[in-house]
Amino acid sequence: MFVLGIDTSCDDTSVAVVQDGRFVKSNVTHSQIASHRAHGGVVPELASREHLKNIIPVAKEAIAASGLSLQDMDGIAVTIGPGLIGSLLVGVYYAKSLAYITGKSFIGINHLEGHILSGFLETEVPSFPFICLVVSGGHTSFYEVMDFCHYRPLGHTLDDAAGEAFDKVAKILGLSYPGGPEIEKISANGRPDIIKFPRALLNKKSFDSSFSGLKTSVSLFVEQWRSGKHSHTDITIPDIAASFQDALIDVLVQKASLALKMTEAKSIVVSGGVACNRRLRNAINDMAKQISVLTYFPRPSYCTDNGAMIAAAGYYHLIKGEKTALNTDVKPRFPI
Ligand code: KG4
Ligand code: ZN
Repeated sequence: MFVLGIDTSCDDTSVAVVQDGRFVKSNVTHSQIASHRAHGGVVPELASREHLKNIIPVAKEAIAASGLSLQDMDGIAVTIGPGLIGSLLVGVYYAKSLAYITGKSFIGINHLEGHILSGFLETEVPSFPFICLVVSGGHTSFYEVMDFCHYRPLGHTLDDAAGEAFDKVAKILGLSYPGGPEIEKISANGRPDIIKFPRALLNKKSFDSSFSGLKTSVSLFVEQWRSGKHSHTDITIPDIAASFQDALIDVLVQKASLALKMTEAKSIVVSGGVACNRRLRNAINDMAKQISVLTYFPRPSYCTDNGAMIAAAGYYHLIKGEKTALNTDVKPRFPI
Protein backbone atom coordinates (compact mmCIF):
# COMPACT_ATOMS: atom_id res chain seq x y z
CA MET A 1 0.00 0.00 0.00
CA PHE A 2 1.47 3.35 -1.09
CA VAL A 3 0.66 6.57 0.75
CA LEU A 4 1.55 10.10 -0.33
CA GLY A 5 2.43 12.14 2.79
CA ILE A 6 2.43 15.94 2.89
CA ASP A 7 3.63 18.24 5.68
CA THR A 8 3.52 22.04 5.54
CA SER A 9 2.93 22.68 9.25
CA CYS A 10 5.74 25.17 9.81
CA ASP A 11 8.62 26.20 7.54
CA ASP A 12 9.40 22.98 5.64
CA THR A 13 7.50 21.95 2.52
CA SER A 14 7.82 18.17 2.49
CA VAL A 15 6.22 15.43 0.38
CA ALA A 16 6.99 11.70 0.47
CA VAL A 17 5.84 8.33 -0.83
CA VAL A 18 5.96 5.52 1.75
CA GLN A 19 5.04 1.87 1.28
CA ASP A 20 3.22 0.02 4.09
CA GLY A 21 4.07 2.71 6.65
CA ARG A 22 7.75 1.69 6.65
CA PHE A 23 9.56 1.79 3.35
CA VAL A 24 10.38 5.28 2.13
CA LYS A 25 10.26 5.42 -1.66
CA SER A 26 10.97 9.18 -1.71
CA ASN A 27 11.05 12.07 0.75
CA VAL A 28 11.60 15.55 -0.68
CA THR A 29 11.88 18.52 1.67
CA HIS A 30 12.26 22.17 0.76
CA SER A 31 13.63 24.05 3.76
CA GLN A 32 12.78 27.74 4.11
CA ILE A 33 15.60 28.48 6.55
CA ALA A 34 17.36 30.82 4.09
CA SER A 35 14.19 32.96 3.74
CA HIS A 36 13.61 33.25 7.50
CA ARG A 37 17.21 33.63 8.69
CA ALA A 38 17.33 37.39 8.10
CA HIS A 39 14.32 37.75 10.43
CA GLY A 40 15.86 35.60 13.20
CA GLY A 41 12.94 33.15 13.22
CA VAL A 42 9.97 31.84 11.24
CA VAL A 43 7.73 34.61 9.85
CA PRO A 44 4.27 32.98 9.43
CA GLU A 45 3.14 35.11 6.47
CA LEU A 46 6.37 34.48 4.61
CA ALA A 47 6.15 30.74 5.38
CA SER A 48 2.71 30.34 3.79
CA ARG A 49 3.76 32.25 0.67
CA GLU A 50 6.86 30.04 0.35
CA HIS A 51 4.72 26.88 0.73
CA LEU A 52 2.43 28.12 -2.04
CA LYS A 53 5.41 28.59 -4.33
CA ASN A 54 6.96 25.21 -3.52
CA ILE A 55 4.23 22.67 -2.86
CA ILE A 56 3.58 21.66 -6.48
CA PRO A 57 7.27 21.32 -7.55
CA VAL A 58 8.11 19.43 -4.31
CA ALA A 59 5.16 17.03 -4.77
CA LYS A 60 6.03 16.44 -8.44
CA GLU A 61 9.65 15.71 -7.49
CA ALA A 62 8.62 13.32 -4.69
CA ILE A 63 6.26 11.36 -6.94
CA ALA A 64 8.84 11.20 -9.76
CA ALA A 65 11.61 10.09 -7.35
CA SER A 66 9.42 7.26 -6.03
CA GLY A 67 9.25 5.73 -9.52
CA LEU A 68 5.45 5.63 -9.17
CA SER A 69 2.61 7.84 -10.33
CA LEU A 70 -0.15 9.64 -8.45
CA GLN A 71 -2.55 6.95 -9.70
CA ASP A 72 -0.46 4.28 -7.88
CA MET A 73 -1.17 5.87 -4.48
CA ASP A 74 -3.69 4.18 -2.18
CA GLY A 75 -4.20 7.26 -0.04
CA ILE A 76 -3.20 10.87 0.55
CA ALA A 77 -2.16 11.85 4.07
CA VAL A 78 -1.57 15.42 5.19
CA THR A 79 -0.80 17.22 8.45
CA ILE A 80 -3.98 19.04 9.55
CA GLY A 81 -2.43 20.37 12.80
CA PRO A 82 -0.93 21.53 15.05
CA GLY A 83 1.03 24.24 13.25
CA LEU A 84 0.87 27.68 11.68
CA ILE A 85 -2.60 28.20 10.23
CA GLY A 86 -1.47 29.75 6.93
CA SER A 87 1.16 27.04 6.40
CA LEU A 88 -1.25 24.20 7.23
CA LEU A 89 -3.86 25.57 4.81
CA VAL A 90 -1.51 25.25 1.82
CA GLY A 91 -0.74 21.56 2.39
CA VAL A 92 -4.28 20.63 3.38
CA TYR A 93 -5.97 22.30 0.39
CA TYR A 94 -3.38 20.87 -1.99
CA ALA A 95 -3.93 17.36 -0.55
CA LYS A 96 -7.72 17.77 -0.70
CA SER A 97 -7.50 18.80 -4.35
CA LEU A 98 -5.38 15.74 -5.19
CA ALA A 99 -7.81 13.46 -3.32
CA TYR A 100 -10.80 15.07 -5.04
CA ILE A 101 -9.49 14.77 -8.58
CA THR A 102 -8.09 11.23 -8.14
CA GLY A 103 -10.83 9.84 -5.88
CA LYS A 104 -8.15 8.52 -3.47
CA SER A 105 -8.75 8.22 0.28
CA PHE A 106 -7.90 11.37 2.20
CA ILE A 107 -6.60 11.23 5.75
CA GLY A 108 -5.77 14.20 8.02
CA ILE A 109 -2.90 13.52 10.43
CA ASN A 110 -1.75 15.04 13.70
CA HIS A 111 1.80 16.30 13.12
CA LEU A 112 2.90 14.92 16.52
CA GLU A 113 1.72 11.44 15.58
CA GLY A 114 4.02 11.75 12.58
CA HIS A 115 7.00 12.55 14.83
CA ILE A 116 6.06 9.63 17.13
CA LEU A 117 6.00 7.16 14.21
CA SER A 118 9.17 8.46 12.53
CA GLY A 119 11.05 5.69 14.36
CA PHE A 120 9.35 3.18 12.04
CA LEU A 121 10.96 4.65 8.94
CA GLU A 122 14.33 3.11 9.85
CA THR A 123 15.38 -0.55 9.54
CA GLU A 124 15.55 -1.15 13.30
CA VAL A 125 12.15 -0.36 14.79
CA PRO A 126 11.07 0.02 18.44
CA SER A 127 8.78 -2.48 20.12
CA PHE A 128 5.63 -1.50 22.01
CA PRO A 129 5.20 -0.01 24.51
CA PHE A 130 7.86 2.67 24.07
CA ILE A 131 8.50 6.20 25.25
CA CYS A 132 8.68 8.91 22.61
CA LEU A 133 10.24 12.30 23.25
CA VAL A 134 9.37 14.87 20.57
CA VAL A 135 11.78 17.82 20.82
CA SER A 136 11.51 20.51 18.17
CA GLY A 137 11.12 24.26 17.70
CA GLY A 138 7.46 24.02 18.69
CA HIS A 139 7.24 20.98 20.97
CA THR A 140 8.80 19.24 23.96
CA SER A 141 6.46 16.34 24.62
CA PHE A 142 6.69 12.91 26.21
CA TYR A 143 4.33 10.11 25.14
CA GLU A 144 3.84 6.54 26.17
CA VAL A 145 3.19 4.72 22.90
CA MET A 146 1.08 1.60 23.46
CA ASP A 147 0.49 0.73 19.80
CA PHE A 148 -0.10 2.40 16.44
CA CYS A 149 -2.85 5.03 16.90
CA HIS A 150 -2.75 4.50 20.67
CA TYR A 151 -0.79 7.17 22.55
CA ARG A 152 -0.78 8.41 26.13
CA PRO A 153 0.50 11.99 26.53
CA LEU A 154 2.70 12.26 29.63
CA GLY A 155 3.72 15.92 29.57
CA HIS A 156 4.49 18.99 27.49
CA THR A 157 6.37 22.24 27.74
CA LEU A 158 4.61 24.90 29.78
CA ASP A 159 6.38 27.75 27.95
CA ASP A 160 9.32 27.62 25.51
CA ALA A 161 9.94 24.40 23.58
CA ALA A 162 13.50 23.02 23.69
CA GLY A 163 14.31 24.14 20.12
CA GLU A 164 12.82 27.56 20.82
CA ALA A 165 15.14 27.87 23.85
CA PHE A 166 18.13 26.93 21.65
CA ASP A 167 17.06 29.55 19.08
CA LYS A 168 16.49 32.30 21.68
CA VAL A 169 19.76 31.64 23.52
CA ALA A 170 21.61 31.63 20.19
CA LYS A 171 20.16 35.07 19.47
CA ILE A 172 21.31 36.32 22.89
CA LEU A 173 24.81 35.02 22.09
CA GLY A 174 24.80 36.70 18.66
CA LEU A 175 24.60 33.43 16.71
CA SER A 176 22.48 32.94 13.60
CA TYR A 177 19.11 31.17 13.13
CA PRO A 178 18.36 28.31 13.63
CA GLY A 179 20.27 28.38 16.87
CA GLY A 180 20.37 24.67 17.76
CA PRO A 181 23.05 23.59 15.27
CA GLU A 182 25.08 26.77 15.99
CA ILE A 183 25.04 26.17 19.74
CA GLU A 184 25.95 22.54 19.28
CA LYS A 185 28.88 23.51 17.03
CA ILE A 186 30.44 26.14 19.30
CA SER A 187 29.76 24.12 22.46
CA ALA A 188 32.39 21.65 21.28
CA ASN A 189 34.98 24.26 22.34
CA GLY A 190 33.24 25.20 25.59
CA ARG A 191 33.19 23.95 29.18
CA PRO A 192 29.73 22.52 29.96
CA ASP A 193 30.23 22.59 33.74
CA ILE A 194 31.64 26.09 34.13
CA ILE A 195 28.28 27.84 34.74
CA LYS A 196 25.57 26.06 36.72
CA PHE A 197 22.39 27.21 34.93
CA PRO A 198 19.09 26.18 36.59
CA ARG A 199 17.47 22.83 35.80
CA ALA A 200 13.72 23.35 36.14
CA LEU A 201 12.44 19.89 36.94
CA LEU A 202 9.15 21.30 38.29
CA ASN A 203 7.38 18.58 40.19
CA LYS A 204 9.75 15.58 40.34
CA LYS A 205 7.01 13.30 39.00
CA SER A 206 5.95 15.66 36.22
CA PHE A 207 6.79 15.26 32.55
CA ASP A 208 5.95 18.88 31.84
CA SER A 209 8.93 21.12 31.20
CA SER A 210 9.78 24.80 31.35
CA PHE A 211 12.77 26.38 29.64
CA SER A 212 11.93 30.07 29.84
CA GLY A 213 13.64 30.38 33.26
CA LEU A 214 16.80 28.83 31.82
CA LYS A 215 16.70 31.26 28.90
CA THR A 216 16.23 34.25 31.26
CA SER A 217 19.06 33.01 33.44
CA VAL A 218 21.38 32.86 30.39
CA SER A 219 20.21 36.32 29.34
CA LEU A 220 20.94 37.82 32.81
CA PHE A 221 24.32 36.09 32.94
CA VAL A 222 25.28 37.42 29.49
CA GLU A 223 24.18 40.95 30.44
CA GLN A 224 26.45 40.95 33.51
CA TRP A 225 29.26 39.21 31.65
CA ARG A 226 29.17 41.78 28.80
CA SER A 227 29.17 44.67 31.28
CA GLY A 228 32.39 43.27 32.73
CA LYS A 229 30.86 43.07 36.23
CA HIS A 230 31.11 39.32 36.34
CA SER A 231 33.87 37.71 38.33
CA HIS A 232 34.49 34.99 35.68
CA THR A 233 36.48 37.06 33.25
CA ASP A 234 37.89 33.98 31.48
CA ILE A 235 34.45 32.77 30.40
CA THR A 236 33.88 32.55 26.65
CA ILE A 237 30.76 32.38 24.45
CA PRO A 238 31.39 28.65 23.80
CA ASP A 239 31.46 28.15 27.62
CA ILE A 240 28.04 29.82 27.98
CA ALA A 241 26.62 27.84 25.03
CA ALA A 242 27.96 24.53 26.37
CA SER A 243 26.68 25.23 29.91
CA PHE A 244 23.22 26.14 28.57
CA GLN A 245 23.12 23.08 26.30
CA ASP A 246 24.00 20.74 29.15
CA ALA A 247 21.40 22.26 31.51
CA LEU A 248 18.67 21.73 28.91
CA ILE A 249 19.82 18.21 28.02
CA ASP A 250 20.05 17.32 31.70
CA VAL A 251 16.34 18.12 32.19
CA LEU A 252 15.32 16.08 29.11
CA VAL A 253 17.40 13.09 30.16
CA GLN A 254 16.12 13.11 33.75
CA LYS A 255 12.51 13.23 32.55
CA ALA A 256 13.12 10.54 29.92
CA SER A 257 14.68 8.31 32.59
CA LEU A 258 11.70 8.85 34.89
CA ALA A 259 9.24 8.06 32.07
CA LEU A 260 11.06 4.81 31.27
CA LYS A 261 11.15 3.73 34.90
CA MET A 262 7.54 4.66 35.56
CA THR A 263 6.13 2.86 32.50
CA GLU A 264 8.73 0.05 32.42
CA ALA A 265 8.99 0.61 28.65
CA LYS A 266 12.10 -0.96 27.15
CA SER A 267 12.55 1.38 24.16
CA ILE A 268 12.76 5.13 23.64
CA VAL A 269 12.39 7.06 20.37
CA VAL A 270 13.67 10.64 20.24
CA SER A 271 12.50 12.75 17.28
CA GLY A 272 12.06 16.38 16.21
CA GLY A 273 14.76 18.84 15.11
CA VAL A 274 16.54 18.94 18.50
CA ALA A 275 16.99 15.14 18.29
CA CYS A 276 19.72 15.89 15.69
CA ASN A 277 21.88 17.10 18.62
CA ARG A 278 24.76 14.64 19.17
CA ARG A 279 25.24 15.52 22.82
CA LEU A 280 21.55 14.85 23.51
CA ARG A 281 21.79 11.52 21.66
CA ASN A 282 24.88 10.52 23.65
CA ALA A 283 23.30 11.51 26.97
CA ILE A 284 20.10 9.57 26.21
CA ASN A 285 22.18 6.57 25.10
CA ASP A 286 24.26 6.63 28.31
CA MET A 287 21.16 6.84 30.50
CA ALA A 288 19.32 4.10 28.56
CA LYS A 289 22.29 1.74 28.66
CA GLN A 290 22.33 1.86 32.46
CA ILE A 291 18.72 0.69 32.63
CA SER A 292 18.91 -1.75 29.67
CA VAL A 293 16.65 0.29 27.39
CA LEU A 294 17.05 0.42 23.60
CA THR A 295 17.26 3.83 21.90
CA TYR A 296 16.00 4.85 18.47
CA PHE A 297 17.00 8.10 16.77
CA PRO A 298 15.61 8.56 13.25
CA ARG A 299 18.12 10.03 10.78
CA PRO A 300 18.12 13.89 10.71
CA SER A 301 15.87 14.11 7.61
CA TYR A 302 13.20 12.05 9.44
CA CYS A 303 13.74 13.95 12.73
CA THR A 304 12.98 17.37 11.27
CA ASP A 305 9.57 17.92 9.68
CA ASN A 306 9.01 15.52 6.79
CA GLY A 307 6.27 14.04 4.62
CA ALA A 308 7.43 10.44 5.22
CA MET A 309 6.36 10.40 8.88
CA ILE A 310 2.93 11.74 7.84
CA ALA A 311 2.58 9.03 5.18
CA ALA A 312 3.54 6.41 7.81
CA ALA A 313 0.91 7.70 10.24
CA GLY A 314 -1.63 7.88 7.40
CA TYR A 315 -1.04 4.22 6.56
CA TYR A 316 -1.94 3.03 10.08
CA HIS A 317 -5.22 4.96 10.01
CA LEU A 318 -6.11 3.97 6.45
CA ILE A 319 -5.65 0.23 7.13
CA LYS A 320 -8.20 0.60 9.94
CA GLY A 321 -10.66 1.91 7.36
CA GLU A 322 -10.52 5.50 8.57
CA LYS A 323 -10.93 8.43 6.19
CA THR A 324 -11.18 12.18 6.76
CA ALA A 325 -14.05 14.13 5.17
CA LEU A 326 -12.93 16.60 2.51
CA ASN A 327 -14.71 19.43 4.32
CA THR A 328 -12.55 18.98 7.45
CA ASP A 329 -10.75 22.17 8.46
CA VAL A 330 -7.15 22.67 9.64
CA LYS A 331 -6.52 22.47 13.39
CA PRO A 332 -3.74 24.93 14.38
CA ARG A 333 -4.17 23.63 17.97
CA PHE A 334 -4.55 19.87 17.99
CA PRO A 335 -3.42 17.94 21.06
CA ILE A 336 -3.04 14.16 20.75
O1 KG4 B 1 11.57 19.71 13.87
P1 KG4 B 1 12.08 21.02 13.37
O2 KG4 B 1 12.87 21.03 12.09
O3 KG4 B 1 10.93 22.06 13.17
C1 KG4 B 1 9.91 22.27 14.07
O4 KG4 B 1 10.13 23.09 15.00
O5 KG4 B 1 8.84 21.62 13.92
O6 KG4 B 1 12.96 21.62 14.56
C2 KG4 B 1 13.63 22.84 14.42
C3 KG4 B 1 14.29 23.15 15.75
C4 KG4 B 1 14.95 24.51 15.81
O7 KG4 B 1 14.56 25.15 17.00
C5 KG4 B 1 16.43 24.18 15.79
O8 KG4 B 1 17.23 25.14 16.46
C6 KG4 B 1 16.47 22.85 16.50
O9 KG4 B 1 15.32 22.17 16.04
N1 KG4 B 1 17.66 22.07 16.15
C7 KG4 B 1 18.62 21.73 17.04
C8 KG4 B 1 19.64 21.07 16.31
N2 KG4 B 1 19.25 21.00 15.00
C9 KG4 B 1 18.03 21.62 14.93
N3 KG4 B 1 18.70 21.94 18.36
C10 KG4 B 1 19.80 21.50 18.99
N4 KG4 B 1 20.84 20.89 18.36
C11 KG4 B 1 20.79 20.64 17.04
N5 KG4 B 1 21.80 20.03 16.42
ZN1 ZN C 1 7.63 19.05 13.82
